Amino acid sequence: MIIILLGAPGAGKGTQADLIGERLGLVTIASGNLLRENIGNGTPLGLRADAYMQRGELVPDGLVIDMVTARLKAPDVARGVILDGFPRTLGQAQALDANLAAQHKQVDRALYIKVTDEALLDRLSGRWICRNCQWSYHEKFNPPRVAGVCDNCGGELYQRDDDRREVAENRLRVYFDLTFPVIDYYREHDSLVEVDGDQEIEDVTRALIAAIEPQPARLAPPLKIETYA
Ligand code: AP5
Repeated sequence: MIIILLGAPGAGKGTQADLIGERLGLVTIASGNLLRENIGNGTPLGLRADAYMQRGELVPDGLVIDMVTARLKAPDVARGVILDGFPRTLGQAQALDANLAAQHKQVDRALYIKVTDEALLDRLSGRWICRNCQWSYHEKFNPPRVAGVCDNCGGELYQRDDDRREVAENRLRVYFDLTFPVIDYYREHDSLVEVDGDQEIEDVTRALIAAIEPQPARLAPPLKIETYA
């Protein structure tokens, strides 16, 4: 099962990837987390990606495609994967399709979490993330049980540099220019399902799971048994 989560910065992709990954027992690959890990470890990829991310721009396709393709080869992905934040350009979507086709696989669902533009900046400015497991919280909409501490692993919570207002606004501009066409790409390939992301977190999770799991076949109406007195 190969699932893609699409949506604007702040739409809830990371939040939902963790929740549905846990429920369905699927590994999550978040391109933003992989890039931040590389920056933290001072790798050559991290050094190149850092400046783009600081400005809220996309990291060049070649770097991101190689990074995600390498991660997709790991044995833990064999059962299925949820991709969060990748693909984000038409070039990345085509590269992913070619890579999967070579392994006789394909994208099963592209789930588009649709959120009104006004909600996005509010969500980004109030977001706190765990340094250790990357779970995402919000000071108003999804607070941790203890301020500053992750419910999931007890790690320390921090705010991302690129959630500062001017960088977040640029991320949204870049999303509408370069990532929005990817939604149409999956619509044309009949794998797109749109989910209303302006609901409570659990309701979004329920809608996403319903879009992933096969629907039970409709039962025929019960036979009417006539009795004769
Ligand atoms: P990345 O880390 O992928 O960030 P993003 O796509 O901008 O997405 P976010 O993580 O900001 O938002 P989200 O949708 O995951 O929201 P979340 O669940 O946290 O990318 C960062 C950078 O890396 C990019 O700018 C780029 O430079 C680079 N990059 C990454 N991938 C790349 C690629 N493929 N190609 C090139 N460059 C790449 O939720 C947000 C907040 O809202 C949280 O506080 C949460 O608690 C709250 N929330 C969630 N759901 C709800 C709800 N239903 N109601 C109320 N609040 C909610």
